[in-house]
Amino acid sequence: MALFPYADHTALVTGASSGLGAEFARQLAARGTNLILVARSADRLRALAAEIERTHSVRVDVVPTDLADYDAVQHLLGEIGDRVDLLVNNAGYGSYGRFATLDPGREYNQILVNNAALVSLTRAVLPAMLARGTGGVVNVASTIAFQPGAYQAVYAATKAFVLSFSEAVRVETRGTGVRVLTLCPGPVDTGFLAGLGDDRAARTAIYSRLDRADRVVAVGLRAFDRDRGTVIPGFRNALLANAPRFAPRAVTAWMSGRLLRPAS
Ligand SMILES: NC(=O)c1ccc[n+]([C@@H]2O[C@H](COP(=O)([O-])OP(=O)(O)OC[C@H]3O[C@@H](n4cnc5c(N)ncnc54)[C@H](OP(=O)(O)O)[C@@H]3O)[C@@H](O)[C@H]2O)c1
Repeated sequence: MALFPYADHTALVTGASSGLGAEFARQLAARGTNLILVARSADRLRALAAEIERTHSVRVDVVPTDLADYDAVQHLLGEIGDRVDLLVNNAGYGSYGRFATLDPGREYNQILVNNAALVSLTRAVLPAMLARGTGGVVNVASTIAFQPGAYQAVYAATKAFVLSFSEAVRVETRGTGVRVLTLCPGPVDTGFLAGLGDDRAARTAIYSRLDRADRVVAVGLRAFDRDRGTVIPGFRNALLANAPRFAPRAVTAWMSGRLLRPAS
């Protein structure tokens, strides 16, 4: 497959106000890609847009949007029309703790942001990409997508959804010129861990080692260039993600509880 034509094309990056999304924006701008930046934090998006426009000759549009809000997502879709060549569905957040104790509204909205908005955006941009015979979608899942995640039950399920959905759409778009990549990072040093809202998460075996966001995004874009379907940055992460294949599901679920349970 030919190299993706980054220069003078347009990427929409969700969750661009922080972490991996901001890094996607920077690395895509360095390749000459115009950007549409989406998240709720308008000030942070504008600051990033100004930083990028100072250093790269690209156009950066900012569309502050709450992706848990159906009407706001519809407004975003109206704003972008069919000008998106590359969609990076990166926005997302998690929670941590026993499911029965977690805030129900926050759990519900997690599904809206991590899954429903991702589906709406993908559905909105794909037809024009297919008509042009070129385009790409990068969906950010996680290594937690490969097994149930005790103490992150909803978050793990949303990421399993992202992985399953993306792999299926990739099969449907094969040979069309549209590539679909699922990026499955392990723990990364971003706002994510603090956003879990529970200090105990940082003391679990899983979250004790964090990757750098710029490295994870570079691995993701390299995999996208090679038109790979799924990429797990880091050998240890790949090992942990693939281990469940060889064990009964009940065992992998139990293991996730060992790795993610709160320290006593
Ligand atoms: N860091 C990790 O350990 C890790 C590991 C695997 C996968 N991931 C995934 O990587 C992706 C990026 O997360 P990150 O690590 O970069 O964390 P982060 O620094 O907390 O960034 C999360 C981004 O999502 C946006 N977001 C959250 N809720 C939103 C909403 N309702 N509407 C619009 N945007 C929203 C945030 O923007 P606003 O707050 O401004 O809205 C922010 O830009 C997520 O999908 C996450 O699940 C992270």
